[in-house]
Amino acid sequence: MDTTLREALQESMGSISHSIAVTAALGLLMILGLVTFRSVMSEIVLPGIPQFKGVPILGAMPIYFKHGMPQLLGSLIAIGEDGISYANVVNNVLVSVHDPAMVKEVLSYPEEIASREGDIGRMSWSPFWTLRRLIGESLFNYVGPDTSHHRNVFIREFNSTKSNAEKFSTISQIAQEHANMLTGQAKVAEVDNIRYSADNFAIALWGETLYGNPHHYIGGRVLDLSETIITLAGNPWPSVWYSIQLFFKMVTPGEPTRTEAKLREKVAKVIEANFEKLEAYEKANPDAPLKTIRNLSVMTGGGRTGPLSKFAAEFTNLNLFGGHHSIGLNVTWSLIELDNNPECLKKLMAEIDSVDTNDFTSVNSKMPYLDAIIMEINRLHPTVHATLRVINRETKLTASKKPVVLKPGMLIYLSYLHLHTSPEFWGPDSYKFMPERFLGNYDKSKPFMSFGYGPRNCVGYKFATLAAKVYLLTLLKTYDLQVKEHDHEMKLGTLLETTKPVAVKVSHRF
Ligand code: HEM
Repeated sequence: MDTTLREALQESMGSISHSIAVTAALGLLMILGLVTFRSVMSEIVLPGIPQFKGVPILGAMPIYFKHGMPQLLGSLIAIGEDGISYANVVNNVLVSVHDPAMVKEVLSYPEEIASREGDIGRMSWSPFWTLRRLIGESLFNYVGPDTSHHRNVFIREFNSTKSNAEKFSTISQIAQEHANMLTGQAKVAEVDNIRYSADNFAIALWGETLYGNPHHYIGGRVLDLSETIITLAGNPWPSVWYSIQLFFKMVTPGEPTRTEAKLREKVAKVIEANFEKLEAYEKANPDAPLKTIRNLSVMTGGGRTGPLSKFAAEFTNLNLFGGHHSIGLNVTWSLIELDNNPECLKKLMAEIDSVDTNDFTSVNSKMPYLDAIIMEINRLHPTVHATLRVINRETKLTASKKPVVLKPGMLIYLSYLHLHTSPEFWGPDSYKFMPERFLGNYDKSKPFMSFGYGPRNCVGYKFATLAAKVYLLTLLKTYDLQVKEHDHEMKLGTLLETTKPVAVKVSHRF
């Protein structure tokens, strides 16, 4: 386990032994729950809606802490036949909304009604709070009038065909370098975990695209840090420890705890090093087109050289959390599914051999089978498998069959994975890998939201998809790949991962 992660989790659990710390924390939370929120605990919060009861006072907290939010969410979905159910977790009310129409309604709420963090003055266990403490502000928690401008800046940079066409040759070059690295000079190699290679490809890609970092092979430190941030953001303990500190006024709302501040120092060091790379690049290439981070900066009020705008600087932090694993996991799951489904691999190889994969337009829009594979991967294994919103203003959930009034402070959990895989929406073969379902005029009425939905959906999905496609096809063009084990399963952490490393034997095709 990475040292910072261990330190942070240790801080969350206290320096004394695990069980004493757990008991102490539970006791404190009971006190918090009893003293502050007695009224919430003693009433039926959502009349007529199935409630997952758990244990007295703590509610579903033991499940949440022992098995994590995805497991609790699974239990809630199982009892919520009409697409909604809830549980108390001490003073928090967690509502699982898992009917497509209701999910769309919640994701369409304006920020006055619901946001990712909720009211910063009111403690909630939204993982986005933890994220803010770890990496500072980012577009994830922006609210207010400038948000749509900032979203548009991202969209222009990452979701526009023109700007992705400009990035294509860099993506292809780094993909080929990373593919070549798997075997070095050899014809065959055993790769312990292809996910590590795919993540490293993404890190190198970001390093070059954002900062002009010419060292395309070094991903280790960034990868470790990014892994730590992702793990902590989805772990309940930082929230518990933080809520206790907040209760005793040991920390200012929104500010990091001591250990979190240490992690931020590490983040700052990585960012500083990246910025040095950018400055070196700009000095050596004064007439070259601006690197992406500089572009983001200029579009948000920064100069063409010198310090970055606040928005661009914040993206450098956010980039440590998002962007590597999501691309890496797309590629990894694709390799697993293609290995399990050789007939799909055969069709894909035929398509790869029939187009010029060095041409952006071909890869971007003339490879329908490759597109269908990536969509099917995003359906079956959506990297962001769930999200949540915190209710800020009382509102009625109109798409619900029974009357539901959502109250301020409630946490609304939304499982994309459930929407994507439930036989209720996708039929009896919903768990089967079938790229064909996304060919031609496919049925768009089925719930498919791997990049979110509504006003706060993903602003980087076209770049991410292009990068995943290019690395996947580069690997397949270069090698025959054999995934060594065939029992890979999904692990629902902050992101949707594999339960174990994905070992692959790669042999040069020619
Ligand atoms: C396969 C790769 C990716 C997946 C599966 C993915 C998925 C998502 C999802 C599901 C959301 C909405 C979350 C919610 O509803 O709370 C989201 C939001 C977001 N994504 Fe992505 N994403 C990917 C890649 C990227 C990349 C490469 C970037 C960076 C350019 C990015 C930047 C963002 C940002 C900034 C938001 C928040 C937007 C806002 O709140 O206005 N994503 N992403």
